[in-house]
Amino acid sequence: MLAKFQYSFLMACCLILTACASTSESTLYNKLGGEQGVNNIVENLIQQIGQDEQIFHYFAEARVSRFRENLIEHFCAISDGPCQYTGDNMADIHTGMNINESDFNHLVDLLINAMDAEGIPHRVQNQLLARLAPLRENIIYL
Ligand code: HEM
Repeated sequence: MLAKFQYSFLMACCLILTACASTSESTLYNKLGGEQGVNNIVENLIQQIGQDEQIFHYFAEARVSRFRENLIEHFCAISDGPCQYTGDNMADIHTGMNINESDFNHLVDLLINAMDAEGIPHRVQNQLLARLAPLRENIIYL
């Protein structure tokens, strides 16, 4: 009887632990703070770009509300959040800008600032940066 109870208790614990592991903490999107976290990161990034002497010129003609919406969606999708990216592909959108390496790195620095401001641990920041890094080839010198 006691053995049966212990077995059931153990099974219940396993089920609860599995459920917890597969919900709130599991995706990179959730580690970034989910919808609110990603919105805040993008908003902070846009505010910084607006005051940035090195890269603002690229954005002078950009449609900010579209940029905000599509970047949120892009970060959501790339971090395994519940979104599908519907904006233009990276090469199409950045072609003609001739973005150099130093300006690319600068935008990444602003993104790191934004994640710092949101209290995202560096271990988690690095996971997002690792997913963005391969896109570099489709963004610079086009
Ligand atoms: C990993 C890095 C980057 C990612 C993931 C990224 C992503 C995006 C996304 C999702 C959009 C919106 C696409 C759309 O509206 O369909 C966008 C637009 C834009 N990006 Fe990037 N981008 C990156 C780096 C950069 C850099 C380094 C610059 C310049 C220094 C830049 C300049 C722009 C500009 C100016 C627009 C707005 C274009 C417009 O509305 O006409 N991006 N980017």
